Amino acid sequence: MAFQERPHLFILLVVCIFLSSFLSVSAQYTPSYACDIDRNPKLKEFAFCNTSLDVRTRVHDLVKRMTLHEKAGSIVSAADKIDRLGIPSYGWWSEALHGVSDTGPATWFDKNVVPGATSYPQVILTAASFNESLFYTIAKVVSDEARAMYNTGVAGLTYWSPNVNIYRDPRWGRGQETPGEDPVLTSRFGVAYVKGLQETGDHDKDRLKLGACCKHYTAYDLDNWTSVDRFHFNAIVTKQDLEDTYNPPFKSCVFDANVASIMCSFNKLNGKPTCGDKELLQDTVRGKWKLNGYISSDCDSLEVMFNDQKWEKTPEQVAADALNAGLDLNCGDSLKKFTEKAVKDGLVNESAVDRAVTNNFVTLMRLGFFDGNPSKQIFGKLGKKDICTKANQDLAREAARQGIVLLKNSLGSLPLVPSYIKTLAVIGPNANATKTMIGNYAGVPCKYTTPLQGLSDSVKTMYEPGCTDVKCTSTHMFENATKAAATADAVVLVMGTDLSIEHEALDRIEIDLPGQQNLLVSEVAYAARGPVILVIMSGGGIDVTFAKCNPKITSILWVGFPGQEGGGALADVIYGRYNPGGRLPMTWYPRSYADNVAMTNMNMRADPSTSYPGRSYRFYRGETVYPFGYGLSYSLYVHHLIKAPTHLQIPINKAHTSFSATDGVCNKLTFDVDIIVTNIGKMNGSHTVLLYSYPPQVIHNSPHKQLLDFKKVQLGPWNHTSVSFKIDVCKQMSVVDKDGNRKVALGRHVLQIGDLKHNISLKV
Ligand SMILES: *[C@@H]1O[C@H](CO)[C@@H](O)[C@H](O)[C@H]1NC(C)=O
Ligand SMILES: *[C@@H]1O[C@H](CO)[C@@H](O)[C@H](O)[C@H]1NC(C)=O
Ligand SMILES: *[C@@H]1O[C@H](CO)[C@@H](O)[C@H](O)[C@H]1NC(C)=O
Ligand SMILES: *[C@@H]1O[C@H](CO)[C@@H](O)[C@H](O)[C@H]1NC(C)=O
Ligand SMILES: *[C@@H]1O[C@H](CO)[C@@H](O)[C@H](O)[C@H]1NC(C)=O
Ligand SMILES: *[C@@H]1O[C@H](CO)[C@@H](O)[C@H](O)[C@H]1NC(C)=O
Ligand SMILES: *[C@@H]1O[C@H](CO)[C@@H](O)[C@H](O)[C@H]1NC(C)=O
Ligand SMILES: *[C@@H]1O[C@H](CO)[C@@H](O)[C@H](O)[C@H]1NC(C)=O
Ligand SMILES: *[C@@H]1O[C@H](CO)[C@@H](O)[C@H](O)[C@H]1NC(C)=O
Repeated sequence: MAFQERPHLFILLVVCIFLSSFLSVSAQYTPSYACDIDRNPKLKEFAFCNTSLDVRTRVHDLVKRMTLHEKAGSIVSAADKIDRLGIPSYGWWSEALHGVSDTGPATWFDKNVVPGATSYPQVILTAASFNESLFYTIAKVVSDEARAMYNTGVAGLTYWSPNVNIYRDPRWGRGQETPGEDPVLTSRFGVAYVKGLQETGDHDKDRLKLGACCKHYTAYDLDNWTSVDRFHFNAIVTKQDLEDTYNPPFKSCVFDANVASIMCSFNKLNGKPTCGDKELLQDTVRGKWKLNGYISSDCDSLEVMFNDQKWEKTPEQVAADALNAGLDLNCGDSLKKFTEKAVKDGLVNESAVDRAVTNNFVTLMRLGFFDGNPSKQIFGKLGKKDICTKANQDLAREAARQGIVLLKNSLGSLPLVPSYIKTLAVIGPNANATKTMIGNYAGVPCKYTTPLQGLSDSVKTMYEPGCTDVKCTSTHMFENATKAAATADAVVLVMGTDLSIEHEALDRIEIDLPGQQNLLVSEVAYAARGPVILVIMSGGGIDVTFAKCNPKITSILWVGFPGQEGGGALADVIYGRYNPGGRLPMTWYPRSYADNVAMTNMNMRADPSTSYPGRSYRFYRGETVYPFGYGLSYSLYVHHLIKAPTHLQIPINKAHTSFSATDGVCNKLTFDVDIIVTNIGKMNGSHTVLLYSYPPQVIHNSPHKQLLDFKKVQLGPWNHTSVSFKIDVCKQMSVVDKDGNRKVALGRHVLQIGDLKHNISLKV
């Protein structure tokens, strides 16, 4: 009897669990959208809900119906609902820097609905792959997961990513979010990432899959250094630096990727808050570049303008300044609180508010927000099944493998051959890292593969953290670490930083390994009997000169913050299942750089009169730990020039030393550079071909060297391939003069690819 009853009870229990989980899931969230004609047929009467009309007409109809109060509630990040028009509230603030993130309040994870999303490597490591199709592919997958989350009711449609600020100083806590120090690489990353997020694949080019945002415009790259923070920092920037370093990525986002948004920054630029600067916003982004989208503030720049920067006497005046400068959306609530009074006081015309509302709603309309139920639209089929798929997670591993940079490799040290290793000591505070691997602006990953887990997949490992955390303030665990090193056949040390060292609102003071980490590395290396592989997990560059010079440390790898699959990717590289080909996207400076250079100095150019050394490989000529573009492989590659001109005749007659790069002369002023690359090693590999030019020094303060273009090729052992570059002289070989004008210098330009150099003479 009792025996018979049990199965019955069991089934009942299962049914109950099933039902309750089913009910809790289905009842929880629904996506937010306007013009829900199925539920409210009266909405059909509104022209703005009519999908056969064009977007501008629809938005015009909508804005015409709105009161000033409703408009003020529609230009802030938590936009109000307008019931009488069938418009629900909308959260503008979502983030997807390297995977869908819950950093913004409009997107969240819920273990019963969507527990996590694929977390790709932090941007600085992905940038190190120098692979534009990888940048695009990641963003496209992220947009699938984001749309799937929107359909599930847990995400927005507007994502404030990517961050395209130039990584100007190694101490910057947010440098990890960026593609590095070079304007060309940063622009290319920005364009590919924006396209990957936004493109629908539809014939209608105006439609958006997601709205991306290039931030933070402009010259924002100091968060909190000594007594200076981003809310009070006044970045003093020359016209030359602004035009050739800080602004190009933003311009490319608008010109080449049609980005839906630009976000202005917290800092002041030459005395003016960027979000209140008409010349920057209205005249440049909207006027010259012709942004098709909205300009947003940071969160909350307007409050910062009032409270921290004391920019105006009243918050209404700040609201008016921002709207008059061209701001459309305020992350925060300042514009909701102060716009109506600002209009009534005559500080700003209602037409400026209309413009802002229009730009915001045009964006939402392009996203399909006003087209009724999203399940019936183009991305309506995406759902939970499309998040954290095996393919998406495999791409996270692939991205990390492509980015990892091999900095040192004494002959024969790497790759390790697993069958020769009885035990591997895996040591260091990041050796079993989880959250550290995903850096900032992350979400909840699908899962983690830690370095220890990755390395344990084919050999027996011994694990010793060596320090309690990356701050490594005590040496009490060193002894066990050195013992492990002394008994193992090989050692992998996983050291570096985490967000307690470099983060938003936290810039570094020193650029060494934190605390006693150097000592741990040296003691372990001393005790080790086999090869010692030092792995640096960090956002920024680290002065590892001590390890570079220590012959017992046989290899050094930089893995950035490698994302959820970082440990698997590291093992692929260490065991030779993947041949590393990443290159540093930023200069690794010696520690003295941080001691001698004020982080507040925004000048890119060196100034010998003050011993200021300048910044980035384009201007800094001093000693480096590792230079921009550096990275080894298990193979060797050689380059042969096939074709490139030695002379270029410019069809003008009056130019003296240079000519304007914005003139009519520039049409069709292009040339080809063709080379053959040969892999002369024994392994397949991905090789980055970096094409630089050294311009003649006729324009004052020209860069010493600049990246013109780059390409990534895959090559089997002893195989070769041709690589062709088409160079646009005015766009790519120009430099900026002190007044901010782009010019092409006449004279000898030297092209460089690897060891290969070639002279081109530009003449009138
Ligand atoms: C939508 O606009 C089209 C084009 O102007 C028009 O023919 C149609 O009648 C409109 N639909 C409704 C429901 O008003
Ligand atoms: C409002 O518009 C009028 C007419 O175009 C213009 O003269 C005035 O300067 C504007 N006021 C503000 C505060 O922009
Ligand atoms: C390593 O980290 C993983 C994930 O947090 C954990 O499950 C595992 O126990 C850790 N391993 C050791 C040896 O601490
Ligand atoms: C060192 O290892 C031993 C043996 O596993 C352990 O008992 C001891 O607690 C460890 N010491 C420290 C400081 O972690
Ligand atoms: C700057 O950092 C310090 C700690 O180093 C912290 O106390 C302060 O709140 C930070 N300021 C800002 C504006 O983030
Ligand atoms: C190298 O390339 C060959 C041919 O494309 C392929 O069969 C092989 O799997 C590759 N090996 C590695 C390690 O990627
Ligand atoms: C670039 O990335 C794409 C996408 O992951 C990949 O298919 C391709 O092989 C990579 N190219 C090279 C040369 O590694
Ligand atoms: C050599 O590279 C070419 C591409 O340049 C490719 O088509 C070919 O399959 C490769 N051959 C081998 C043996 O890997
Ligand atoms: C380029 O020009 C310089 C100066 O005329 C000369 O020294 C150098 O050999 C030339 N290089 C090549 C590759 O022709």
